[in-house]
Amino acid sequence: MSTKFVLFSDIHEHAVFSPRALLDKRLFGLMNSTFCRHGAYRMERIGAAVRTILDFLHPDLVIFTGDAVSTSDPREFDAALNRLRPLVDSGIPILYSPGNHDRYVRARACREAFERFRAELTKHCPMAYPGLYGTSELRFAVIDCARPFNPVLSCGKMTPETADFLEREAAKDDPRPLVCVGHFPLYGNDKLKSFRHRLIGGKRVESLLDAGKIALSVAGHAHMPFQHLDARGYGELVVGSLTRYDVLREITFDGGTFTVRTLTSDGEAAPPLS
Ligand SMILES: [Fe+2]
Repeated sequence: MSTKFVLFSDIHEHAVFSPRALLDKRLFGLMNSTFCRHGAYRMERIGAAVRTILDFLHPDLVIFTGDAVSTSDPREFDAALNRLRPLVDSGIPILYSPGNHDRYVRARACREAFERFRAELTKHCPMAYPGLYGTSELRFAVIDCARPFNPVLSCGKMTPETADFLEREAAKDDPRPLVCVGHFPLYGNDKLKSFRHRLIGGKRVESLLDAGKIALSVAGHAHMPFQHLDARGYGELVVGSLTRYDVLREITFDGGTFTVRTLTSDGEAAPPLS
């Protein structure tokens, strides 16, 4: 008996222009998407990854660690969902932790589009955040730390309720290891600990990861993939951007150990991570 899950992250459907973007943070996101990201983030990798997952990898579940879009415009969510549609229609459970770009602004149309996207994407295992999804071997705690911030910040915020939830789940007498699914890494790296990118309120649960009570934290946010895992595969894995760095992660849990394979969207072995 083993459990296999496939992860992808930070697909960042390209921003689309809306006159309303001139009134809020979307203007910054639009400029960033258009001038900094457009050529480097290749949307065709999403379709390739979906085919690889469905035709070759056959996972028990799929995890998307957020940033489906660039500025939360409803047309971006529609485009992202269209690309992911075969995955949704396959019936494979999809766990999704929203990214900061999925909750980019407070505009009502954007918030409603996010909710529609989330509901459709996760319709085979719907849950409120924070929520728990269990298999016979593992427990997945799915958290949401994405909030709209001002234009210069890409932070997340872990509420005390979410930290309480993780502490409660970690304290349970349950033989199934706990996997934390979030957009913002718990450990991160130097950049992710910076003022602009940090997870506010996340310090409190780092000790759960230190102690192995959270066996594995999987996250997005940083687009360059990296990981800090021990011999059992316990620790933190930052998935990396599928569209920017062409990475899919496949994790198999078997005999108490997580084994990670890093693949391209076409299912080939990816070059070693630096
Ligand atoms: Fe991102």
